[in-house]
Amino acid sequence: MSDALVLIETHGRVGVIRINRPKQLNALNGAVMRMLVDAALAFDADAAVGAIVITGDERAFAAGADIKEMAAASVVEMLQANRIELWDALRGIKKPLIAAVSGWALGGGCELAMACDMIVASETARFGQPEINIGIIPGAGGTQRLTRAVGKALAMEVILNGRFLDAAEAERFGLANRVVPVEQYMRTAIELAQQIAERAPLAVRLAKEAVNQAQESVLAEGIADERRLFYMLFSTEDQKEGMQAFLDKRPARWQGR
Ligand code: HXC
Repeated sequence: MSDALVLIETHGRVGVIRINRPKQLNALNGAVMRMLVDAALAFDADAAVGAIVITGDERAFAAGADIKEMAAASVVEMLQANRIELWDALRGIKKPLIAAVSGWALGGGCELAMACDMIVASETARFGQPEINIGIIPGAGGTQRLTRAVGKALAMEVILNGRFLDAAEAERFGLANRVVPVEQYMRTAIELAQQIAERAPLAVRLAKEAVNQAQESVLAEGIADERRLFYMLFSTEDQKEGMQAFLDKRPARWQGR
């Protein structure tokens, strides 16, 4: 296998980004995050790609930010390097992001999975925010996204007491969309991504934006935003084609315009 830190593949209309530091359990150092974000931005700009899967390997999705890289850092160095800023670029990705998670998804790894729009987990997946064990707290959205996903009570236990969630718990508490045997998690994630990638691209994009509004804003703003995006789709050819195809009882042909 290549020794590149991040591997890129495409399967049909699905772009796959694979973190490739297996010996360090795919710990996310600065170089990995830079390459991962660059790959996601490139797929986002590529009209041949309709959805993106982010994954690691069977043993680890990612065991967190690279502790070695941070261990001796001062607050000034952390602020100057400001590596977490890269995560904002990930938040700006317009195409659906699906995390295919097997093994460890801890700390920044769990935050990376939660920064995706959906999570497909293998039965071996373990989610957690164990930063408390090394004297810090989550820094890339973990306190916010986990709380929204699983509720305050469980988030407190995970973040304050380092409790791990196994795959079944992650599914039960609404963190993972589905759990499948380890031999199937990649195929399942790619199939889900491919299904979405075949849908009307502009509607998928605005649907993602609208659902994220529900997470990121108060209800009144979210509802107003959803309405604006809904109306906007009536200026697209895909809306005309989609509705006409339904009336004609035939599959729609999406143009992405
Ligand atoms: C650097 C890491 C690492 C990490 C594992 N490794 N996690 N290196 N950063 N986050 C390295 C180990 O040092 C070891 O290297 C090798 O990967 C294998 O790990 P082991 O510990 O030997 O494996 P195992 O006994 O199976 O334990 C697995 C584990 C454990 C439970 C996942 O590795 C672990 O607790 N890792 C740290 C998890 C964590 O605290 N994550 C949060 C980080 S802080 P050697 O060279 O010894 O073989 C964070 C903040 C995010 O993520 C802030 C925003 C970005």
